[in-house]
Amino acid sequence: MKDWLGVDLKHVWHPYTQMKEALRLRPVLIARAKGIKLYDAKGNFYYDTISSWWCNVHGHNHPRIKAAIKKQVDLLEHVLFAGFTHKPAIELSSKLIALTKNKFNRVFFSDNGSTSVEVALKMSFQYWQNIGRKRKAKFVSLDHGYHGDTIGTMSVSGLDLFNAVFSPLLFAAYKVPSPYCYRCPMKKERSTCVIDCIKPLERLLQEKHAEICALIIEPLVLGAAGMIIYPQEYLEKAAALAKKYKIHLILDEVAVGFGRTGKMFAYEHTPGIKADFLCLSKGITSGYLPLAVTLTTEEIFRAFYGDYEKRKTFFHGHTYTANPVSCSAGLASLSIFKEEKTLPKARKLMPFFHRELEKFRDLDLVGDVRYIGFIGAIELVKDKKTKQGFGLKRRLGLEVYKRGLKEHLVLRPLGDIIYLFLPLCTSQAEIKDILTRTYSVIKSLS
Ligand SMILES: Cc1ncc(COP(=O)(O)O)c(C=O)c1O
Repeated sequence: MKDWLGVDLKHVWHPYTQMKEALRLRPVLIARAKGIKLYDAKGNFYYDTISSWWCNVHGHNHPRIKAAIKKQVDLLEHVLFAGFTHKPAIELSSKLIALTKNKFNRVFFSDNGSTSVEVALKMSFQYWQNIGRKRKAKFVSLDHGYHGDTIGTMSVSGLDLFNAVFSPLLFAAYKVPSPYCYRCPMKKERSTCVIDCIKPLERLLQEKHAEICALIIEPLVLGAAGMIIYPQEYLEKAAALAKKYKIHLILDEVAVGFGRTGKMFAYEHTPGIKADFLCLSKGITSGYLPLAVTLTTEEIFRAFYGDYEKRKTFFHGHTYTANPVSCSAGLASLSIFKEEKTLPKARKLMPFFHRELEKFRDLDLVGDVRYIGFIGAIELVKDKKTKQGFGLKRRLGLEVYKRGLKEHLVLRPLGDIIYLFLPLCTSQAEIKDILTRTYSVIKSLS
């Protein structure tokens, strides 16, 4: 048999991977997948507990998505999207707009989460330029936010490990403390706090709103920072401040969109919220093909609309914008949501998932347990009282990853935070099995 891994290690450069380490801890050669299980070349299975980087929704190898993809490939695999259009994109646009209950009414396509955010940043910036408010040119974001790996999205993200080396390349953006309740920036207890952590944002907007174009935020879950789940009141207050000080609100639902939190979109937990941009990707095709969208309002759109010579056009686009096959996968995914009643079924299982997660609190190394929908996180600490973490050197996450594989789990901790980001099709028996295995991985560490 050909030494596929040998060839991989000779030629492939994997993302977020120290390739020297990959020589020892070789990548797992996945040959096929079904439901929430991945199978390696030898037939061993692994639970895809993190939805293949948070994108799989309905499970792998779903017959309806496969059929939609095959059908579309026979008709039209790709066409440029400037001057040309096609039914899958048109239909997907109107379905997405309907899902937002017309809160948004324009859809701009791209092909990954970072570009969907980059588009929102550029649109917000250009909106203010187009209407003559040239001073409004800065962004505000949370210090634990994560919005992608391009220069623009890194500029509004806050994770040092990922992007510190690039700091000379990044544009200046305001950062405010995150509502990280377990490690409260205001040193308050959740039971008695009144969302005091909103104050820095309030002060900043009061002082600087004339030079700020937008606030960008991940609704309810700061994903890459370690599935930091924060109170919906924070989001409500942040949105109200954006409105009061007339800056745009960009909701980055690249990770949490499409049912992860128990609602189709996480912002629906705060029904009154009004935003100017909604960024979606990952779950949009249920993880079958790359696709992303930036939804916006008619008001934003109007500021770009006019005679060509006025130079208001949004000059941005990617080669694979609105790829028809990806759009067909997106449409198939939405029809599964409807016909298989994906969300109501998953919602019924969510309390069970949460109850089972609560049991982790008793373990010695577990400092915090948090969850929303089918997202759960377990923060490991050296000392429960001081909440001291293990730090980079200890490489606890790597240890968990290795032990996870032995337990047939794909666990990729974010630092000391073990998390689960389950496909919405996960059954009760699978939840139980995954959590039992995760429990023994954590227990084995102490
Ligand atoms: C909230 C959020 N925004 C943007 C991105 C970037 O998406 P992509 O990796 O597809 O560029 C991610 C990726 O994890 C994310 O979680």
